[in-house]
Amino acid sequence: HSPEPCAIVLFGATGDLAQRKILPTLAHLIHDHPQPETICIVAFARRPLGDDGWRKMVLESLDKYMPADDKLKAADKQAFAQRLFYCQSDFDDDAGYQRLGQLLDTLDKEQHTGGNRLFYLATPPDTDPEIIAHLGKAGLAKPRAQNGNDKKCWVHIITEKPFGHDLASAQSLNAEIGKVFHEDQIFRIDHYMGKETVQNIIAFRFANSIMEPLWNQKYIDHIQITVAESLGIESRAEYYEASGAIKDIVQNHVMQILSLVTMEPPADFSANDIRDEKVKVLRAISALTPEQVQERTVRGQYTAGEEDGKPVVGYKEEKGVNPKSTTETYVALKLFIENWRWADVPIYIRTGKHLPKRSTEVIIQFKRVPHQLYTTDQIGNMQPNQLVLRIQPDEGITLKIGAKVPGAANDLATIDLDASYRTVFGIELPEAYERLIADCILGDSTLFIRRDEIEESWRIIDSITNTWKQMDPDTVYPYATGTWGPKEADKLIRKDGRRQWVNP
Ligand code: BG6
Repeated sequence: HSPEPCAIVLFGATGDLAQRKILPTLAHLIHDHPQPETICIVAFARRPLGDDGWRKMVLESLDKYMPADDKLKAADKQAFAQRLFYCQSDFDDDAGYQRLGQLLDTLDKEQHTGGNRLFYLATPPDTDPEIIAHLGKAGLAKPRAQNGNDKKCWVHIITEKPFGHDLASAQSLNAEIGKVFHEDQIFRIDHYMGKETVQNIIAFRFANSIMEPLWNQKYIDHIQITVAESLGIESRAEYYEASGAIKDIVQNHVMQILSLVTMEPPADFSANDIRDEKVKVLRAISALTPEQVQERTVRGQYTAGEEDGKPVVGYKEEKGVNPKSTTETYVALKLFIENWRWADVPIYIRTGKHLPKRSTEVIIQFKRVPHQLYTTDQIGNMQPNQLVLRIQPDEGITLKIGAKVPGAANDLATIDLDASYRTVFGIELPEAYERLIADCILGDSTLFIRRDEIEESWRIIDSITNTWKQMDPDTVYPYATGTWGPKEADKLIRKDGRRQWVNP
């Protein structure tokens, strides 16, 4: 599973995402590679840094973002810096792309990068079409023949989220990329797909025979997906104001988790079979009508409070946020999947910033027994059966089942059958980005988002946001930092019988 030799061209190389996440990940990847000298990273950026200035900048970032790394010592970081090269150019300068092409040819010869190229767009999405068109025009998107044999070198492109800001913009970006790159060259990242626990949803469901017979509307009462964050928006006001919780988290990460939890069994493990099933289930979610949006969605926005004992300001007071902003920092919603397996099973989703803790969980709540032997007193507080897939942190799985409390009274209680990843496997889970970048280099797109998947998910989100635009701004309810969102979200789930949110 070792990545092949290649040159990785990073756009947005001096930006926050590259410095914080991508470059530390690449440092690990190269360190673990049997022939580290055959992978090079080229920054394509505006600032006049040169190789030396860029290397210095990256070394400082590595010290800042991975100071106490057990794996990478100072000498390893220095060795990584030697793999870095700089191509100074504006994104719209034809000559810059010509220079990039020459530099890549030189790296092939001198550093043995094998003619393989990975273009990594960690850029604001509005610059992507320009970069892509220039790559095409400069002839850099086409895989070339390898020296001395019939095999082709590969050219792949990674795009970071957000992929568009609605269906129309995602379609147009897809069309632009499609003019220059083949779908199998395109790797749309959603870093949740790189998480072990997200991938384990497939194993849990399809490598065990006891789950699938229960995994349908006959036995499942409802599903909850919670992506809770304790952090606020940090310094990303401009991006967040235009995005809000639904586009930041639901359109991508939640839809990915949802499709893995609810898809049909794929015929095999190929990238397209898995993604065919993921898309199929998204297609079975109808666009919400305006009435459904009013009934089935709740928006919230945090007000001042405390995070880890320290006072924090409310969203409207954050630097860079419009004091009258109606951007939601919390959203709860209810969706239905209209197919045989999931008919009438509500899927409750919620995500928010500045909630009491950081936790992502999927709760599968099963129906009660068809015939009750126990009295209400004996049942007491016993919960219905729940399966909890703990995506992060404290990764693991818990099955909550009823058990007899020892004694003559025949009383019941809920007990946990629990498995934690760290205890079972005894290892730290790998970084999501490392797995994804390695897969992209190997050409495996199973964990990346296909064109039709991204469009289906925007179709659903658009139906919600289009109605929100028409709704009274007072329906963005305030919630205090450090609480589980507005009380209207509790009403959303409570009005459907005895259900309630399961807080991590
Ligand atoms: C990003 C969002 O995609 O995911 C952030 O833009 C969010 O707002 C982050 O904080 C959450 O990722 P993780 O891996 O920490 O759950």
